[in-house]
Amino acid sequence: MDNRPIAVFDSGLGGLTAVGALSRLYPDEDLIYFGDTGRVPYGTRSRKAILRFSSQAARFLMAFDPKALVIACGTASTAAMEAFDCGVPAVGVVEPSVRKAAAVTRNGRVGLLATPASVRTGAYAACMRSAAPHIALTERDGRLLVPLVEAGRVGPGDRVAALLIEEYCAPFRAAGVDTLILGCTHYPLLADLFAAALPGVTLVNAGVEAAEALRGLIIQADRERTGSLRFFVSDDAEGFSEQAKMFLQREITEMAEVVDLEENMV
Ligand code: DGL
Repeated sequence: MDNRPIAVFDSGLGGLTAVGALSRLYPDEDLIYFGDTGRVPYGTRSRKAILRFSSQAARFLMAFDPKALVIACGTASTAAMEAFDCGVPAVGVVEPSVRKAAAVTRNGRVGLLATPASVRTGAYAACMRSAAPHIALTERDGRLLVPLVEAGRVGPGDRVAALLIEEYCAPFRAAGVDTLILGCTHYPLLADLFAAALPGVTLVNAGVEAAEALRGLIIQADRERTGSLRFFVSDDAEGFSEQAKMFLQREITEMAEVVDLEENMV
């Protein structure tokens, strides 16, 4: 057995979609989460900036001696995966969600909605071409959705969110997709609105798929124990803890701790 923690990274709150899945799938495991809330969103930044932020996050998380890294951020997974090449298994969201979409589509038409940086890299498209070349992928960026989610505007009755999603989903409807990859881990928080905009379309949750992909890559912790959860953020710990309750749909007793990544202090 291996009681070292699993480290999870996102630019902000979105990676909590992976944390929820990790806690359900691996209840004995300790989880360390870092959300770069002081610098979110990453998705509208240059690759150079994303790489720098991701390298700092990786360095911070490696100080906890994790047994694995989950890059629960589509933007970091597509633009800066090499930053997490730290000698422990690292799982991003791209390959797991592409494989899932390829497995569940019936008509071979899949949509991808991700951040501008993720779409710009072409990483999802390249992965789909190599995993399932017969599948037609329609890509589009949902650039306004991350700030909306970070602001907690995720309710099914949110008219602004509904309007934006309606606009972002138009090309997917036109292409006749039957499966949509929510390629940014923030987007599943808006799943109800996506389901309403695209009835009958299967939604692939990138964070959940990354959590699933960890199976078989780690030696599990002692079954007798209950895993712990520690949250670190780069700004506004209180805001994060408040939002985390909503995103994980349960009470959070663990208060987030603020770290200064520029100084790389644990
Ligand atoms: N959750 C991140 C992702 O999957 C959000 C990106 C951002 O910060 O813009 O891409």
